[in-house]
Amino acid sequence: MIVSRYVVRRSGPLQGGVTISGAKNSALKLMAATVLTEGRHRLRNVPEIVDVDLMGGVLEAIGLNIERGHDDTGVAYLDVTRGPEVTPVAPYELVEKMRASTAVMGPLLAAVGEARVAMPGGDDFGTRPIDMHLQGLEALGVHFELSHGIINAHTDALVGAEVVLDYPSVGATENLMMAAALADGRTVVSNAAREPEIADLAAFLNRMGGQVIGAGSPTIEIEGVQQLRAVEHTVVPDRLEVATYLAAVGVAGGEVTMHNTRVDHLELLVEKMGAMGLRISPQDEGMWVMRTDRLRPVNVATLPYPGLATDFLPLLVALLSYADGTSYATENVFAGRFGYVGELTRMGAKIRIEDHHLVIDGQPRLSAAPVRALDIRAGAAMVVAALGADGETVIADGEHIDRGYEDLAGKMQGIGADVTRYED
Ligand code: EPU
Repeated sequence: MIVSRYVVRRSGPLQGGVTISGAKNSALKLMAATVLTEGRHRLRNVPEIVDVDLMGGVLEAIGLNIERGHDDTGVAYLDVTRGPEVTPVAPYELVEKMRASTAVMGPLLAAVGEARVAMPGGDDFGTRPIDMHLQGLEALGVHFELSHGIINAHTDALVGAEVVLDYPSVGATENLMMAAALADGRTVVSNAAREPEIADLAAFLNRMGGQVIGAGSPTIEIEGVQQLRAVEHTVVPDRLEVATYLAAVGVAGGEVTMHNTRVDHLELLVEKMGAMGLRISPQDEGMWVMRTDRLRPVNVATLPYPGLATDFLPLLVALLSYADGTSYATENVFAGRFGYVGELTRMGAKIRIEDHHLVIDGQPRLSAAPVRALDIRAGAAMVVAALGADGETVIADGEHIDRGYEDLAGKMQGIGADVTRYED
């Protein structure tokens, strides 16, 4: 993996437009879903990021072929082609680099009845178990055995079942939807995750000839079909990338238009940012944002969609570090996801951790310091915080940012932010 660092200087007011890429967290699962059937799938709006390359590596290990290109009209695509032969393995070297590799488990079981997937370990968010993925698949007739860190899964036949998730896990819901798409009979997933990326996966499966209804609601019904077919699909816009540029304007001020966004996927965030004093309004397939005055403090708490996404929180905390007063933030999804707070504190942010809550005393200014990007969103939060800090902030471990953001430095420069990426 290429090691990078980001150098950010105080910037603003920002101005201009930025085009939002396709959602990483949808693209990765759509890529995994191509394992379900032979043929050539064409995905559009797939972000050019390291995680997509990693998922490409997983699919190549399984025996699929990946190709990027541009069609006659100049639109970029990613083609994934599956032949009759499939090697049902996601090796540790790849799973360890990207947990989302586990999304191939459901499709592999549906396609060939077996999967050998490395058990993901802990990461910066904490232990992050996959017990719900396994329990759900077990209900559909999968047998598991863990040996030497590898999950050996096999099934003689997937049979539809009623699965009630303990928690609306995004990854478990997706693995179940993909496995159930080719199962015998009907699967009902209750307490399912409702994220827009789940609805995008359902749309993709349905386009392939699947029968999925209710995605986006807490109950998803999947009527298994005998066969699926390869299709074309455009990935839903990345709401997390939108949040990043909204937060950038929140810190640096100015007026920016975002193209290719879905405002309806960002309702609660827009409301919270509005309460902070940002002016945001929808535009044709886009969104306009402006900030002139100092930010007001607000209280925020993360929850599964339609609640405020856990991935927004580092960005919101960076913003609230500049607010005129005290804000309270609560992390309910990943209890251990506060590593970035220490990095913000190095820049002079006044944040206290109380269990899974943060107390943020906003400051008029932060000061640049050498910091680290601990994960994708933590890294983006450092860039956002640095836009308002005196001096030059050097963000090490920028490769985390590269995993999830297409050309963050270039897009930031396009709206007047002084952000440069260097490869070491
Ligand atoms: N959980 C379990 N058992 C399971 C599955 C999840 O206990 O079997 C717990 C997790 O530990 C966590 C909670 O349930 O506390 C939610 O986890 P979920 O399964 O919903 O998350 P995920 O599928 O692992 C996806 C995104 C994350 C995002 C979360 C929550 C992808 C590739 N990742 O992860 O995105 O934070 O949903 O919305 O889709 C990112 O993009 O930077 C990122 C981390």
